[in-house]
Amino acid sequence: MTKTLTITSPDDFHVHLRDDALMASVVPYTAKQFKRALVMPNLKVPITTVDQAIQYESRIKKSLKSDSRFQPLMTLYLTDKTSLDEIKKIPEHKQIVGIKYYPAGATTNSDSGVKNIDDRYDVFELMEKLDVPLLLHGEVVDPAIDIFDREKVFIDQHLLKLHKTFPNLRIVLEHITTKDAADFILSSSKKVAATITPQHLLLNRNHMFLGGINPHHYCLPVLKRETHRQALLNAVSSGSTKFFLGTDSAPHLKSTKENACGCAGIFSAASAIELYAAVFDELNELDKLEGFASFYGADFYGLERNKSSINLIKEDWVIPEKITVGDEVIIPLYAGRKISWRLTQSN
Ligand code: DOR
Ligand code: ZN
Repeated sequence: MTKTLTITSPDDFHVHLRDDALMASVVPYTAKQFKRALVMPNLKVPITTVDQAIQYESRIKKSLKSDSRFQPLMTLYLTDKTSLDEIKKIPEHKQIVGIKYYPAGATTNSDSGVKNIDDRYDVFELMEKLDVPLLLHGEVVDPAIDIFDREKVFIDQHLLKLHKTFPNLRIVLEHITTKDAADFILSSSKKVAATITPQHLLLNRNHMFLGGINPHHYCLPVLKRETHRQALLNAVSSGSTKFFLGTDSAPHLKSTKENACGCAGIFSAASAIELYAAVFDELNELDKLEGFASFYGADFYGLERNKSSINLIKEDWVIPEKITVGDEVIIPLYAGRKISWRLTQSN
């Protein structure tokens, strides 16, 4: 008998939708799969003010079909110059749900990020007071630190102190990749949670080098060794409400990935919920998918749970080799590979 699964419509609590033509090409995928998505602010000109966030929200909405019920959730990009007055405006704007911290130079469009996290404790103190969540790209950027250790060193050097100093500040450690991060989340208070991407559940660092270097498996934080992937699988299998869905779907054109200096980022938006369903099925934990994908993120952010639902069917299909964007293409995660779950109806 065909296996089907109906769950409350999921939300993606970490996605890159970009802007302009690229945005127009990728938004429909996220809007089809998810009811809401938390949109990263690292545009070429980063979203650093409330006004910019509102304008960006309206550009995203304009790129949707007129009958779409998809709702973008907006974030601000923290810089060394972000003023306390700007932060104070956030609670008046329900669609702005958090502030994203990028260490300067850590990843795509992070040049305007924070140079020294200790210098923005004034902002964190105010965010704690206003109960505005802080979303962390949790890596150090010191070139002397091995790239595979950057998440752990960030936790040890910065996050423990930050959480201790501001125990009531809601913190999301984004796209966790290590056992160290999963353990930190489980051992800290309910104010701290984490998102987990499909690629970090499906792949380990060998996949970047299988049969030659594969730029389409390069993202930041970089894929880690198998023991860490297993720790993430244990984290989602535990059913802990502290782990929830955030794809970190990050579209880059094929030409900028297959390049002497290829960009970091993996595009998963077109088949994200199916990839997560396959992971949970493989773990024999399909009953935990709904909490992870549809409840825990909304609960953490203090948002209502979605009322609509989606249907998935257990049926083999092949993820497209490429997605066309104007004259260019994007290569999605698991391009050309067979996957066992398919979304049949959404929202
Ligand atoms: O791989 C990544 N890509 N990691 C990030 O933190 C940023 C993202 C992007 O914007 O492309
Ligand atoms: Zn991201």
